[in-house]
Amino acid sequence: MAKSSCLVLLCLLCPAVLAVSSQAYTWRNVKIGGGGGFVPNIVFNPTEKGVAYARTDIGGAYRLDADDTWTPLLDWVDNSRWNYWGIDALATDPIDTNRLYLATGMYTNSWDPNNGNILISTDYGNTWAASPLPFKVGGNMPGRGMGERLTVDPNSNNILFFGARSGHGLWKSTDYGSSWTQVTTLPSTGTYVPDPTDTSGYNSDKIGIAWVTFDSTSGSKGEATPRIFVGVANQGSDNIFVSNDAGSTWSPVAGQNNTYLPHKGVLSPAEKALYVSTSNGAGPYDGTLGAVYKYNITAGTWADITPVSGSDLYFGFGGLTVDLQLPGTLMVATLNSWWPDANIFRSTDGGQSWTRLWEWTSYPNMNKYYTYDDSLAPWLGPDYTYTGTDLKQIGWMIEGLNIDPHDSNHWLYGTGATIYGGHDLLKWDSGTGRNVTLKSLADGLEETAVQGLISPPTGPVLLSALGDIEGFVHDNLNTPRTTEYSNPTWTTTVDMDFAGNKPATIVRIGNGDSSTGRQVALSYDSGYTWSQDYGAADNITGGHVALSADADTVLWSTSSNGVLVSQYTSTFTAVSSLPSGAIIASDKKNNSIFYAASGSKFYLSRDTGKTFISTATLGSSTAPVKIVVNPNVTGDVWVSTDTGLYHSTDAGSTFAAASGVSQAWATALGKAEPSGSYPAVFAAANIDGVGYFRSDDAGATWVQINDAAHGFGSVSSNVLTADPRTYGRVYIGTNGRGIFYGDPK
Ligand SMILES: *[C@@H]1O[C@H](CO)[C@@H](O)[C@H](O)[C@H]1NC(C)=O
Ligand SMILES: *[C@@H]1O[C@H](CO)[C@@H](O)[C@H](O)[C@H]1NC(C)=O
Ligand SMILES: *[C@@H]1O[C@H](CO)[C@@H](O)[C@H](O)[C@H]1NC(C)=O
Ligand SMILES: *[C@@H]1O[C@H](CO)[C@@H](O)[C@H](O)[C@H]1NC(C)=O
Ligand SMILES: *[C@@H]1O[C@H](CO)[C@@H](O)[C@H](O)[C@H]1NC(C)=O
Ligand SMILES: *[C@@H]1O[C@H](CO)[C@@H](O)[C@H](O)[C@H]1NC(C)=O
Repeated sequence: MAKSSCLVLLCLLCPAVLAVSSQAYTWRNVKIGGGGGFVPNIVFNPTEKGVAYARTDIGGAYRLDADDTWTPLLDWVDNSRWNYWGIDALATDPIDTNRLYLATGMYTNSWDPNNGNILISTDYGNTWAASPLPFKVGGNMPGRGMGERLTVDPNSNNILFFGARSGHGLWKSTDYGSSWTQVTTLPSTGTYVPDPTDTSGYNSDKIGIAWVTFDSTSGSKGEATPRIFVGVANQGSDNIFVSNDAGSTWSPVAGQNNTYLPHKGVLSPAEKALYVSTSNGAGPYDGTLGAVYKYNITAGTWADITPVSGSDLYFGFGGLTVDLQLPGTLMVATLNSWWPDANIFRSTDGGQSWTRLWEWTSYPNMNKYYTYDDSLAPWLGPDYTYTGTDLKQIGWMIEGLNIDPHDSNHWLYGTGATIYGGHDLLKWDSGTGRNVTLKSLADGLEETAVQGLISPPTGPVLLSALGDIEGFVHDNLNTPRTTEYSNPTWTTTVDMDFAGNKPATIVRIGNGDSSTGRQVALSYDSGYTWSQDYGAADNITGGHVALSADADTVLWSTSSNGVLVSQYTSTFTAVSSLPSGAIIASDKKNNSIFYAASGSKFYLSRDTGKTFISTATLGSSTAPVKIVVNPNVTGDVWVSTDTGLYHSTDAGSTFAAASGVSQAWATALGKAEPSGSYPAVFAAANIDGVGYFRSDDAGATWVQINDAAHGFGSVSSNVLTADPRTYGRVYIGTNGRGIFYGDPK
């Protein structure tokens, strides 16, 4: 199957064609520090010092700056192109070092209906063109840390190879990524699937081609490199192939051990060797066995150089890197050693002998040959004050481990939560002085998946509900956070609310993700400390939560146990008058009043959430998204739905649709201008186009507040809250690019 595609130039600076006017906003990340999500790989340019990139699975790609900070490259990605934030592979050109390529697409199953793209930049990622692929790409699929699947020929940089998933095989471009043709001669497109029984298609799709590695030493400048190695996700059958004729014909590399999946294939040109790390799972969460191999290209022989054996080997291997300045120096990481911590192994003799980042002395004591520094993201921890053995300082999900090809002291690696690294790696080899700095170096990379945001009228300006890392009190928007919510501690916070008349009282709920027990907690000091709500039952999780105006009643629309209510932390009881899955809100003034919506219906409770009556219909809506309530006026509510934005000033007896709004997602009310007039209304909406809008006249007219450089990805995933203390300020929580705050310029 051959295919030639046309290049789509992305019009970043063209104004959107909209009937509504726009207002310039300054958009900044709310700083959490340290990333907060999985960084599958970091790729250094082998030719130009200082050029390096990180790719993430749901939040786009970043470029490394000289001061160790990161610059996001895909903030222009908007709702129509949301899957561009899933980066399955990244390639930086060794010849024209300004050229950069990304393989983008989020899922290969039905969760993402769109095909993938190769995004092409000729200016280090500042601007992009898209080359559409005829199949899906899975930046957030299993095996996303293998690779890189996308590689530029180091001798003839018009040539690229890309290894696809799902059985689509190997693809080649000879025109700098503009058009792609399938390489049909590769004997295998990869048969491995993590879980064939998964009916969602997520774990049952083929991982496919894992990596493409050119042997730069086999060719000469200006001509296609003849020798190319390809790793394929096969277990128990040939999984490393070689071409000696620039990709025309292929054969399995003789003598390979294909027991495990090959995660990385890294060339050591001076040694004329290929190093391979393997694991018995595709990653990023798994792996209980693995091996590390060295292939002598000249001799055609393999050596098993696995750094540990026997009962010490209870993990697979992921990240693998060679020091291009010190031939024979290489490092390999445990993909997942969940207890007590990951480990990283280093060899200076081509894998014959190894030293470790830490080792047991006499259990439970360990020698840590590193100094831990999480000053740029103190929440990461635990630091040296922690005395237990469940450390997890070094991390988990380590697929990207890289020594700077221009500086043997500089190294970076990605984990499930951040990027670590340092500038003193050669200390590792200094015998008794062996003690390298392990520092969180993900400053500027904000990768959290935001579930909820609140901005109370007093106390901290913002509190976040985050996927995987709980959430934070943001009493400063520009400094890294110190500590997540704790006691109780859950992995993910899904929603929060404050009490209108007692705004220091806050409720939060968890989704049960990796944690059990009661998933409702209350804070009486603006989120700094928490106590368990003992009215909640074990293992009831998720959904939405609302706290009554005087803070005595929690209304909880759970993910799978219907709507529940509890007053004075008594046992939650069912609210039978509301459909399961209803969205809910509390009045901010009157403690007796709650609101709800489901399908086309709006509901009101005047008895502190015990019973609801349906008061009105919301046009022809089928899916209400969010109810927001004027903090100063009882009964003044807005509801966003799949057919528009509806406003009531009589507690839901009647609604008026905001004209021109054909669909609305997250919405929020903020400080009025001038003070005392109607609150500023914010909405992620379709108003002659999907964008982010503000109205200062209760929805009569709107201005668009986002621009072509700020698209915020998938609109339906995003949450909003507006600041009741600062006019015009809105917070946008994204699914993978952290939290933004915007102020009128
Ligand atoms: C291949 O690797 C596995 C796992 O390390 C090992 O048990 C097996 O003996 C190896 N096979 C050969 C032929 O070396
Ligand atoms: C590869 O094998 C050749 C031939 O046996 C040998 O001369 C060379 O030193 C080997 N290379 C490495 C890196 O071990
Ligand atoms: C490395 O330094 C850290 C902190 O400075 C220290 O706690 C640790 O014990 C040192 N490790 C070794 C093996 O000396
Ligand atoms: C909650 O779930 C955990 C983990 O599945 C289980 O061990 C525990 O028994 C459950 N508790 C209740 C009350 O069902
Ligand atoms: C709050 O609402 C309830 C129910 O509508 C009403 O009976 C009560 O008078 C209201 N309270 C105040 C202070 O307005
Ligand atoms: C509510 O009223 C207070 C006091 O007048 C004012 O400071 C605040 O900004 C108002 N809130 C909104 C959202 O307008």
